[in-house]
This record gives sequence, C-alpha cells and structure tokens, in this order.
Amino acid sequence: MTHAEKTVSHKKPSIEIIKNGPYIVKNVDNLINSQGVPIPAQPVMALCRCGGSNNKPFCDSTHNAINFEDDKT
Ligand code: FES
Repeated sequence: MTHAEKTVSHKKPSIEIIKNGPYIVKNVDNLINSQGVPIPAQPVMALCRCGGSNNKPFCDSTHNAINFEDDKT
C-alpha cells in the first residue's frame, strides 16, 4: 500500500430513504444494475424507488409526476 492509499479517507457507505421518493446512496465504490452491468458510481446518487424513472437506476423525479407514495394503506 502506498502512502497516498493510506491517506485517502474512505467515508462510510449509507442509504437514506426519502419519503415518497428515491434512495439516496452515498459513498459506494461499485454499482451494478439488475443485468450485472457495472454503472459508474458517484459520491452521492439518487436511485429510483418508484419504478417510473426514464433513467433507471437513477431517479429523474418521475415519482413526483406519478404521485408515488410509500404508504400502501
Ligand atoms: S424515485 Fe424518483 S423517479 Fe422513481
């Protein structure tokens, strides 16, 4: 391991659920779609949870247009 590798700080990965919206994914190194194809990961990504995005796996705010709701009651 080089000095540069030792000094790089790796932040803890996290996933946050936005009510009636996407997953906010932070600090992941790898992202793979449902077909097993790697997708370039960004430090912060909004991933579609409603199924309506035209830019899957990313959120494109379609959840607002379709009135996606978490609650199924
Ligand atoms: S959650 Fe935003 S488009 Fe699906």
